[in-house]
Amino acid sequence: MPRTSLRTATFTESVIREMTRYAQEHGAINLAQGFPDGDPPAALVQAAKDAMDAHRHQYAITWGAPELRAALAAKLTRDFGRTVEGDRELVVTCGATEAMMVAMMTVCDPGDRVGLFSPFYENYNADAILTGATPVHVPLRGPGWRFDPAELRAAFARGLKAFVLCNPSNPCGRVFTPEELGQIAALAEEFDTFVITDEVYEHIVFPPHRHTYFTSLPGMAARTLSCSSLSKTFAITGWRIGHVHAAPELIAQARKVHDFLTVGAAAPLQHAVVTALNFPAAYYTRLAADYAAGRDLLCGYLDRAGLAHTRPEGAYFVMVDVSPLGCTDDVAFAKWMAREIGVAPVPGSSFFAQPEHRFVRLNFAKSPATLHAAGERLQKLKRG
Ligand SMILES: Cc1ncc(COP(=O)(O)O)c(C=O)c1O
Repeated sequence: MPRTSLRTATFTESVIREMTRYAQEHGAINLAQGFPDGDPPAALVQAAKDAMDAHRHQYAITWGAPELRAALAAKLTRDFGRTVEGDRELVVTCGATEAMMVAMMTVCDPGDRVGLFSPFYENYNADAILTGATPVHVPLRGPGWRFDPAELRAAFARGLKAFVLCNPSNPCGRVFTPEELGQIAALAEEFDTFVITDEVYEHIVFPPHRHTYFTSLPGMAARTLSCSSLSKTFAITGWRIGHVHAAPELIAQARKVHDFLTVGAAAPLQHAVVTALNFPAAYYTRLAADYAAGRDLLCGYLDRAGLAHTRPEGAYFVMVDVSPLGCTDDVAFAKWMAREIGVAPVPGSSFFAQPEHRFVRLNFAKSPATLHAAGERLQKLKRG
């Protein structure tokens, strides 16, 4: 037999999906994989049925159904504070997962360097490997998960083709401030680097924090590829609808990459989500308020169990410091926790480039009933 690809042979199984299976095997409450346990809005589900009945079964235009691009352009025009043209600046993808891959393959060649913060969302390293690019990690340090501007500059000075920015950030829950984003923007300008953003949690931000779209910073529109999706905003992670927004010259190339990767996202669902994009502003306010309540609920239980944890500014993950419980191997600890405590987390080390074994990650994209049940079980971790 010939040998298989060396590039992809290095891939390990996603720890998150492994923990999900482990949770099922042991009857644990799954706070590992980040997906909501409730249904999407009823109007959206009805719109999907209507799209099927309206015979939307064949390929949509490769870069996105015109109605969807028009609805997305209207939304992004509001969000970015400048006019977005759906005809020239957007490509609809199979979730942010494909959007990130398309963005990276649009701007990077094999041998290029790609900067990213550590901890990071686990797909970015794989995206870099698939592109043939080398990841360069810049640590975010707790408890505030801040970057050191000198370390960031040193990374850019190594010649980054692109910098990947997850904001609001999974797993550490940061919502980067305009000052921090300004520092990244200045370096992108100085070292002529593209910035690829992953903004899937753009609407899950807790006051007083506010999300700033990187592309809306002065001078950044030309070099930013903004990736996002409707997965988290409308609780439809299985529908696989995302998008890349960038300047027309970049999108012209991104559309070809997308075409060869997947041809297109599911046509009936592209039509259905137009309904969601027309929801009033109150939908987004409610979404953030509901997740803030989930955060407070889970954090309250962690406080009562005496566990040190992050208090997320955005997204729906909490990092819990389990080192006081004697944890030195977070993978073994996460499995023990699923088996013995009945709550499955993700071992924190899967998010770090540097050796870091103190954390497990829990997500609160769950109903209050699930969070109460998990919170009660977490009390078994109380010491003394
Ligand atoms: C930071 C981040 N980006 C992207 C994704 C995946 O998004 P999508 O479902 O749109 O592919 C996730 C899902 O957990 C995520 O946390």
